[in-house]
Amino acid sequence: MRSDVALSRRALLAELSAELAAAGVPQPRREALRVWSQLLAALPAEVLVDGETQVEHDTVHALRGAVRRRAGGEPLAHVTGRIGFRDLVLTSDHRALIPRPETEGLVDLLLARVRTGRAADVGTGGGCLALSLASEGAFDQMLAVDLSAPALAQAEQNRVALGARVRLLRGDLCAPLRSDSLDAVVSNPPYLTEAEYASLDPSVKRWEPASALVSGPDGLRATVRLLQETRSVLRVGGWLALEVDCTRAAAVAGQAAALGWVDVAIHADLFGRERYLLARRSAQP
Ligand SMILES: C[S@@+](CC[C@H](N)C(=O)[O-])C[C@H]1O[C@@H](n2cnc3c(N)ncnc32)[C@H](O)[C@@H]1O
Repeated sequence: MRSDVALSRRALLAELSAELAAAGVPQPRREALRVWSQLLAALPAEVLVDGETQVEHDTVHALRGAVRRRAGGEPLAHVTGRIGFRDLVLTSDHRALIPRPETEGLVDLLLARVRTGRAADVGTGGGCLALSLASEGAFDQMLAVDLSAPALAQAEQNRVALGARVRLLRGDLCAPLRSDSLDAVVSNPPYLTEAEYASLDPSVKRWEPASALVSGPDGLRATVRLLQETRSVLRVGGWLALEVDCTRAAAVAGQAAALGWVDVAIHADLFGRERYLLARRSAQP
């Protein structure tokens, strides 16, 4: 039985590692260190030095609670309530998809082409793309659209915490956006097929919203709609930056060209996978 008396760092780390090991979490000591350092905003090295230092009772309680949740399969970002995205620290919980590292590259690709004027992030989730573009670009206006009210509530929490100038809009893809009004649209839409979603790791299916991940039997429903709808909300010459499934990037590029987009290009993510489509609105209707 666990004692309520203060524990040393070394003893507590061993206890937390053992709980994660018993739950089958890979590399349990490393994971216990990650939970500890991220929950308490400390460097892992700070946890490891002075192993005989006693840990305060409240901290022991908080760490045991966090490790219990992690052992139950909950993602670390939900357990700590925080996720890093580029240079921002955002709130993360069940309301929206946890931002993935590969999505960060979309910001660089868009900012290399356009950094002023009016822009929109369609399918903003917790707001990672819109908030990064607002912070790193020089846009006059940044809009962020999502159909999910819980996701928008998380985006609003992040917006307020960062004091960002982003206008949040609830609606179906481009429906809340005015025609010919934007210089840039960025989007990381849901893009898995129903079969791919069914075979995802159970921890993703249990903790993250399906509506953020799956998009029809072929995974392309939202992507194709975006290729169609963003052509009318962008100004002539405006840029579209889309995250796509790497197995369908060439197919999406083909669809974009067939719909009249110009300067269509596929770019690789940090893992070398074909992950982003950039395209420009042409002058023809
Ligand atoms: C893959 S998540 C991306 C979230 C965030 N932008 C990111 O990159 O982490 C897709 C988002 O699109 C939203 N979404 C799905 N279908 C939508 C629709 N028809 N209209 C607006 N948003 C939609 C989901 O609610 C979800 O927040």
